[in-house]
Amino acid sequence: MSDVTADVLKSAAGRWRRIDPLLPDPAPAHAGCGASLIVPAAPGRAAAAGWCRHREVAPGDEAGLAWGAAAQFWLAAHVAGDPGEPGTGAALDELLAAWRGHLASEPAAADQDSQAAVRWPSRDIGGVRALLRHGLQPLTVIAARIAARALADVPAPADLTIRPAGPGDVAAVTDLAVEVIRFDQHFGSVRLCPHAEEAEWRAARENLARPQPWTWLAERDGQAVGLVVAEPPDRAGWIASATSASPAAYLATMSVRPGHRGSGVGSALVALLHRELDAAGVAVTLLHHGMLNPLSAPFWNRMGYRPLWTNWEIRPARALR
Ligand SMILES: CC(C)(COP(=O)(O)OP(=O)(O)OC[C@H]1O[C@@H](n2cnc3c(N)ncnc32)[C@H](O)[C@@H]1OP(=O)(O)O)[C@@H](O)C(=O)NCCC(=O)NCCS
Repeated sequence: MSDVTADVLKSAAGRWRRIDPLLPDPAPAHAGCGASLIVPAAPGRAAAAGWCRHREVAPGDEAGLAWGAAAQFWLAAHVAGDPGEPGTGAALDELLAAWRGHLASEPAAADQDSQAAVRWPSRDIGGVRALLRHGLQPLTVIAARIAARALADVPAPADLTIRPAGPGDVAAVTDLAVEVIRFDQHFGSVRLCPHAEEAEWRAARENLARPQPWTWLAERDGQAVGLVVAEPPDRAGWIASATSASPAAYLATMSVRPGHRGSGVGSALVALLHRELDAAGVAVTLLHHGMLNPLSAPFWNRMGYRPLWTNWEIRPARALR
């Protein structure tokens, strides 16, 4: 690691700690194409360092293709400087320009089914204008909820039964999981592929075969009307490095059938899940939601979640300005 890079990571770590204690310490991205980008400090501009990570979703991976493009280019972007320092935006601007140059030499970045994406700390507001200037759009959020956060206790609707789901519930769980994709596809980063239902069915069958699937169904008149699925810390390792708090769980799916929304089903499911997570000693729960989803964004805020990371993206990747 060069001296500039080490200095940038050290300085960025200090800023991140001050703006958001739930952020982890910045670390160099190891799995990448090897392209490391460095912007030296200049008058009015901080130093910056970044790594481009390439991810290809396999053609038949319908579950993966629901949530991202087939060819993905992720920039891990780190900028030196204190919160509020004007040089942050200029440094990120320059880093994004260097990344654009790198993408110009990557043939897959020209594919229609490709994306350029940056995961930027939601509270690091000094970078927002630079991200917008390069044509990136804030489409998804990783939100976080600290354990045992007290919320107003709203009683669950009296006609609702909530029970753990088991191997006999694959069809109901699949149906409600596909419903989330169907709804979220309106907001830019999610799409409903032709075989999505099959992929969700396989995932549900595998998950519900576990001794503890961490999956609950809400039923009304014997019909499944709501679903929540979580990953406890031993299955959430893939996202644990997104936060300084540990152990971290992940809330993977939340769905309420149309016609039953707005009647307390979602709140009742989440209240139960939070009791289970708190009892299991989980320190922080993370989830993804669509920034533009008018139902989920306010819902999660009411449930005690707040933005930690914002995923900025543009498709195809070469459209990066
Ligand atoms: C987001 C979602 C899961 C929320 O579930 P929900 O059951 O609709 O949520 P709730 O009913 O508990 O809360 C929603 C609204 O109903 C209100 N509400 C809660 N209990 C109520 C009750 N007993 N009677 C009437 N309204 C009630 C809430 O106050 C809230 O109203 P507000 O938005 O005006 O503040 C659901 O809308 C959904 O499935 N959306 C589509 C898929 C999706 O977006 N999933 C999340 C992906 S991250």
